[in-house]
Amino acid sequence: MTQDPTRREFLAATALTSAAGAALLHGCASASDGAARRSRRPAVSGPLTGAEPVSRVRVGMIGTGSRGSTHVRLLLLMDDVEIVAVADPHVPSAQRAEKACADAGKPEPTLYTDDDHGYRKILERDDVDAVVISSPWKWHHPQGTEAMRAGKHAFIEVPLGLSLDELWDLVETSEATSRHCMMLENVNYGRDELMTLNLCRQNVFGELLHGEAAYIHDLRSQMNDVGWGTGSWRTAYHAKTQGNLYPTHGLGPVAQYMNLDRTDDRFDTLVSYSSPALGRNLYAKNELAEDNPHRKLDYTCGDLSSSLIRTQLGRTILVQYDTTSPRPYTRHNLIQGTGGCLCGFPTRLAVEAWGDYHHWIEGDALDEVREKYEHPLWKRMGREAEAAGGHGGMDYIMLRRIIECLKNGDPMDQSVYEGASWSAVRPLSEKSVNNGGAPVTFPDFSRGRYRQIKPLAVIA
Ligand SMILES: NC(=O)c1ccc[n+]([C@@H]2O[C@H](COP(=O)([O-])OP(=O)(O)OC[C@H]3O[C@@H](n4cnc5c(N)ncnc54)[C@H](O)[C@@H]3O)[C@@H](O)[C@H]2O)c1
Repeated sequence: MTQDPTRREFLAATALTSAAGAALLHGCASASDGAARRSRRPAVSGPLTGAEPVSRVRVGMIGTGSRGSTHVRLLLLMDDVEIVAVADPHVPSAQRAEKACADAGKPEPTLYTDDDHGYRKILERDDVDAVVISSPWKWHHPQGTEAMRAGKHAFIEVPLGLSLDELWDLVETSEATSRHCMMLENVNYGRDELMTLNLCRQNVFGELLHGEAAYIHDLRSQMNDVGWGTGSWRTAYHAKTQGNLYPTHGLGPVAQYMNLDRTDDRFDTLVSYSSPALGRNLYAKNELAEDNPHRKLDYTCGDLSSSLIRTQLGRTILVQYDTTSPRPYTRHNLIQGTGGCLCGFPTRLAVEAWGDYHHWIEGDALDEVREKYEHPLWKRMGREAEAAGGHGGMDYIMLRRIIECLKNGDPMDQSVYEGASWSAVRPLSEKSVNNGGAPVTFPDFSRGRYRQIKPLAVIA
C-alpha cells in the first residue's frame, strides 16, 4: 500500500498533531463553528499514513441491529479479532451479539444497554482499538468523533455524516487525533466493482469521462417498522429531508475508478432535481396499519432523486436514489471512457479495441473477461468471502482489509476525505433541490492534500 510514505513521517505527523488532538479533547468545538476552524487550520498528516500496527484487533461494536449483527458474524470468523464490548440500547440486539460470540466459542463481550450513551462506556475502556458504528444515521457523527477523541479508530456505516459540518468535524477529528475514520463502503469490495477497478487501472476503457451510480432499492416495506428496526428511524427522513439520502453505495466505486480525491481530480459541483413525492404517501395510505405512526407523515422527499456531479477535470457522474418506486434493484455501476464502457445490473461491457463494441460482452462471454481481469483481492479471498456471505462476499473482504491494514499499520483503502466527499452528496443534493436545481460546490475536505494521495493501488 503506497498512499503516503514512511513510518518516520507518520510518527512526526503524530507528534505534530497531538497538540491539536489535546485541544480538541479539552475544548471540542461544536460542529456549528466548523467553518471558523476550517479557515484557520491547514490539513495535517492524520491517519493517511497508517497508524501504529496492532497484532490482534480488539473491537467495540456500537449498534448491533440488522447491519451490526452482520459485522459481528463476519468478525467472529477472524482469529485475529476479538469483540470486546457491545453497546446497543435495544437489549435483544445486544444479547444476540453476545450469543453469537458464545456460539462461536469466543469470549463473551461486555454489554452496555442502559441507554443511547452506553457507547461511551466502550470508549472509556483501554482494551479497545477500534469501534464499528452501525447505529442510526444521527449517531454516526457524535459516536465517530467521540471515539476518535478517546483514541479509537472509527469505522462508520454509510453515510459518514448527515451535514457538511458533521463531515468536516469527522475529517478534522481524524486528522487531529491520527485515528482512522473510514466509512464502511462495502460496495467498493464487490466482485464486479473490484474487477471494474482493475479494468480501469489496466486502461481498458481509456481516459474516463463519465460514470453513473445509484441506490435504487424498493424499501417501502420498512415503513411497517415501528419502535425498532431500520424503518423505525429511517422512514421519517423521507418526510423531513430532500434529495439523495443514501448516495455512497453506487458512488464510492465510481469515484475510485476515476481516482477522485486522489492526485488530480475531485468533485467540483453538483446539480440536483427530485421527482414528485408520491410513492410513500400512497403506500402509507394503502398498506400501513391504522395505528402505524408512519401513516400520519407527509412524505415530501421526491421519490426519484437525480444529481449530476461535475469534477474539476470536467468529468460527469449521474447519481440517483430511489427507495420508493417498484423496480428491480440497481446501483447502475456505469463507467464510460474514450475506449469503452462497463455497465452493471447485469454487468456487461464494450471495448473498442476488442472488436465489435456495438454489442455488449455479457453472460457467458463475460467469463473470459473475469478470468483475465478478476481483481487480485477477489482471487485471494473470494472463496472464503462467498462462503462467509454478506452481500455476496463484499462485506467480508471489506472487514478483512480493514483488519489487515490495522495489523500492518497501513492506510485504509478509503480515506476519510473520500468518505466525506461521497457522503456530501446528501446535504448538497438537498440544497440544490431546495434552490430549484442550482449548482452547489463541493468542499475540498482535504484542503489540497488530495494531490499527494496516490490512486488506490490494485492490492494483491
Ligand atoms: N453498508 C450496507 O450495506 C448497509 C446496509 C444496511 C444498513 N447500513 C447502515 O447501517 C446503519 C444501521 O442500519 P440498520 O439497518 O442496521 O438499522 P437497525 O435499526 O437495524 O440497527 C440499528 C441499531 O442501532 C441501535 N442504536 C440506536 N441508537 C443507538 C445508540 N445511541 N448507540 C448504539 N446503538 C444504537 C438500535 O437499537 C439498533 O439495534 C445505518 O447507518 C445504515 O445506513 C449499511
